[in-house]
Amino acid sequence: MMRPFPYPTGHAVPLFLAPMAGVSESPFRRLCRRHGADVVVTEFLSAEGIRREDQATLSKLHFSADERTIGVQIFGAEPAAMADAAALVTDVFQPEFIDINFGCPVKKVVKRNGGSGCLKDLGLVQDVIRAVVRATHLPVTCKIRSGWSEEMRDPVAIGLRCQDAGVRAIALHPRTRSQMYTGSARWEEIAALSQALEIPVIGNGDIKTAADAYRMWRQTGCAAVMIARGSYGQPWIFAQARALIEGTMRVPTPPVEERFAVALDHARMVQEYEVDPVGAALEFRKHLGWYVRGLPHSADLRKRLHQVNSFAEVEGIFADYLAAAGRGEHADAHSDAGDTVAEPAIAGVGDE
Ligand SMILES: Cc1cc2nc3c(=O)[nH]c(=O)nc-3n(C[C@H](O)[C@H](O)[C@H](O)COP(=O)(O)O)c2cc1C
Repeated sequence: MMRPFPYPTGHAVPLFLAPMAGVSESPFRRLCRRHGADVVVTEFLSAEGIRREDQATLSKLHFSADERTIGVQIFGAEPAAMADAAALVTDVFQPEFIDINFGCPVKKVVKRNGGSGCLKDLGLVQDVIRAVVRATHLPVTCKIRSGWSEEMRDPVAIGLRCQDAGVRAIALHPRTRSQMYTGSARWEEIAALSQALEIPVIGNGDIKTAADAYRMWRQTGCAAVMIARGSYGQPWIFAQARALIEGTMRVPTPPVEERFAVALDHARMVQEYEVDPVGAALEFRKHLGWYVRGLPHSADLRKRLHQVNSFAEVEGIFADYLAAAGRGEHADAHSDAGDTVAEPAIAGVGDE
């Protein structure tokens, strides 16, 4: 018998917005919750930074009530530091759960054995988990890759060790650290882990469309589905996936006006949240690029959006584009803005 999720999930098969450094920040998490994500997770935060009360790190811990159910993800290879960080997060921020990152492949993290670096030493993985479990009354979960390298690839063994040490749910991105983002996520490993564990397994990796989310759930028997890059510029992917899983009416991809409205909604939330308006606008350019991907004449549009220095400019650029479309100037171009799901950026990721 599978144990239940240790936090409220809204649905029997919950949909998760994955932790993503520089992307799954408070405004985007709120947006995805509104569009059907059941559970969100913060980007990974350094246990050392939290423990030292580093202001930049602590600022990333703030979230609003409408983001719940939310997990705070921490990383580090020092059990005592991880325990201190978990205790502080529990006392001050009170999320629904604490998630431990054992998946991050980037050099600066793994060289100190953080993230997927821990996967080289499953004894260390267990020490970290036990220390965190002791330090908080909140449920503790973790996110793993399939192993450090092909030779050490064994997600079931890793998952069993994590379960034994006390995690209450586990997300698997079935690639090894060595693979970074190359090759494909091996969904059959999600199926094997789901079979082997008593705790819920959250499947993750290479979901580009709502149909992929549905397929992962059907093929692997995972308890939940987690989407990272597939949410770029299309937060409605969650509502679309929900409809497929529940077998209710299909949710169409919004037409261009509505896409722009969602982007502006997102921009407004960023403005409310960020203290530095220019910095926030520059940071937001990547999201703008994602929102317009696949639209007719999107290369021009993207070029203009990639030069914005303020949110006020965005509205004007969108209005110009819609006016040109209204005059029929985009009619010659192929459009996939109608009801297909735009291809998200799946390559060229920098961080985990
Ligand atoms: C820009 C970016 C940042 C990421 N940051 C994190 C992170 O902070 N913590 C984490 O556990 N995984 C992180 N990941 C990994 C994702 O959560 C996910 O496991 C991976 O992208 C595979 O899922 P996908 O194919 O749906 O993108 C990151 C991925 C990307 C693309």
